[in-house]
Amino acid sequence: MRQKIIRNFYCGDLRDENVDNEVCLSGWVQTRRDLGGLIFVDLRDRSGIIQVVFSPEHTEAFKKADEIRSEYVIAVRGRVSKRPEENVNPKIPTGSIEVLGEEVNILSKAKTPPFPIEDNIKVDESLRLKYRYLDLRRPKMQYNMIFRSKINKAIRDFLDENGFLEIETPILTKSTPEGARDYLVPSRLNPGEFYALPQSPQLFKQILMVAGMERYYQIARCFRDEDLRADRQPEFTQLDMEMSFVDVENVITLNEKLIKYVIEKITGRNVEIPFTRITYSKAMDKYGSDKPDTRFGMEMIDISNIVDNCEFKVFSHAVKSGGRVKCINIKKGGEIFSRRQIDELTEKAKEFGAKGLAWMNITSKEIKSPIAKFFTEETLDRIIYRANGKIGDLIIFIADSNSELVMTSLGNMRVYLAKTLNLIDKDKLNFLWVTEFPLLEYSEEEKRYVAKHHPFTSPMEEDIPLLDKSPSKVRAKAYDIILNGTELGGGSIRIHDASLQEKMFQALGFSEERAKSNFGFLLQAFEYGTPPHGGIAYGLDRMMMLLLGLESIRDCIAFPKTQNASCLMTEAPGDVDLKQLKELNIEVKI
Ligand code: AMO
Ligand code: AMP
Repeated sequence: MRQKIIRNFYCGDLRDENVDNEVCLSGWVQTRRDLGGLIFVDLRDRSGIIQVVFSPEHTEAFKKADEIRSEYVIAVRGRVSKRPEENVNPKIPTGSIEVLGEEVNILSKAKTPPFPIEDNIKVDESLRLKYRYLDLRRPKMQYNMIFRSKINKAIRDFLDENGFLEIETPILTKSTPEGARDYLVPSRLNPGEFYALPQSPQLFKQILMVAGMERYYQIARCFRDEDLRADRQPEFTQLDMEMSFVDVENVITLNEKLIKYVIEKITGRNVEIPFTRITYSKAMDKYGSDKPDTRFGMEMIDISNIVDNCEFKVFSHAVKSGGRVKCINIKKGGEIFSRRQIDELTEKAKEFGAKGLAWMNITSKEIKSPIAKFFTEETLDRIIYRANGKIGDLIIFIADSNSELVMTSLGNMRVYLAKTLNLIDKDKLNFLWVTEFPLLEYSEEEKRYVAKHHPFTSPMEEDIPLLDKSPSKVRAKAYDIILNGTELGGGSIRIHDASLQEKMFQALGFSEERAKSNFGFLLQAFEYGTPPHGGIAYGLDRMMMLLLGLESIRDCIAFPKTQNASCLMTEAPGDVDLKQLKELNIEVKI
């Protein structure tokens, strides 16, 4: 009986210093080429690729190597040898050596894969998802998975060092207040009743604070039945944290250290702390977004108090009816955009919700603009001065009686222009805290105030008196962390005082019964001694996506779901047996 070949090296780890070593390797066949009486096999495992050469000198191995095809799994015994100078491949780390194969075993055969196992291939994503195990064999995907694993490890190391306990919370649970639609699971033992999959561990982590755990974290799976986008999945992973006896400052500084540690350790990139902070209202005012991308300037400028009495009714009416007029100065834009292209910008602004777009092009002779005639010389000067306009610049304006609409549409234009004009430095990692979010927002649909974050978020002390009179003005001890214009995470300091919580429920229009039936267990726990506490949760998938420079979070999730929340590999969701439904007392009507 022949001896088994037992792996003692990884393909991609071999180097010049291994020359003359006898090595046993295992892996997948990347390619097999038959060249002038020699058979060349590129053997691949997780660490990389090495070239193995079979010659007729080793008769049996040579015969077997002839049967080998792409993606066969083989084990090889051989000797490392320096490649002849003319055969050196500088593109791969093992390119200066090769293994002279003396023995080979075919461990498993493979069908021809539906796409080549290599990077930069043009293949439909649905095919990649159906054959995810093949897609995951590609070097880039392997790199993404390894990277993700390393980030998780660094997070755990840091949090362990800083006194955090990793505690798991249930998946079969009650609805949580994150505000998306729940995934429901019928209970067999309690007919007609349902569990909800957690949208986040929010309530449990707060209860863990009541339970005296002091510092909790979890790399937690969350489930939200919402419309999907490139940065959203129905099930996704949070790095979820909660701390006792803290205020905003403590949470923010600890998290800055965490991010610095993790990114510097794993990517070697430099992260400067503290991160810039901006209040929600400033962010909206300057960037028209609560997740501004600060890798480029082009901040929005308010000219409302210059044009409130001007002849141009679009502007003066907007201001008089409680709205605003804001502009962006596109530096040298007058030299970049033709008239036709400015018209296209107007169309774009309309797509973003604006009713129109006005513009002024500053030339050396005049201010070229269809609306210039409506303004006095002095007003024009003041506009240009405030917008810091110079010759060649193009200033664009959006006016509306609805300030929110001005901010969001011009904010979208800002990002659109930065992309079109290539103003974004892709190598930058711009972290930003957005603080002092509004506590409540009015829901037209529900005709009441709803919590912007969740009902347990604490208002800022100085705003508590406003809760009764002007709820929309109350600011919360809530913060989001933004990376390059994407919301990476968010959290808040929670209410730990029963009477304040009651006030909050009143502001939300919750009856005592409703509060009890939704969150009774949490409120009950709060009656037994609650430490002040607060926390944060990061979208880990998003963090990976941004750090890896990916277009979609699907590329850093091993088994992601498609736009309509299905898994193409397992074909979930799927039908179930009638028997199973019967046991659950469920009848399907469609
Ligand atoms: P929040 O709802 O803001 O807060 O979620 C935290 C972070 O999770 C990420 N995220 C998602 N990632 C991928 N797919 C999704 N569908 C998805 N939804 C959210 C985002 C987001 O910033 N319990 C609170 C946290 C707290 O208060 O401590 C919470 O879940 O990056
Ligand atoms: P109109 O009165 O629609 O003919 O528009 C006159 C000029 O004002 C045009 O250049 C429009 O693009 C611009 N304009 C119209 N509505 C707005 C708006 N809401 N904000 C900024 N400019 C506008």
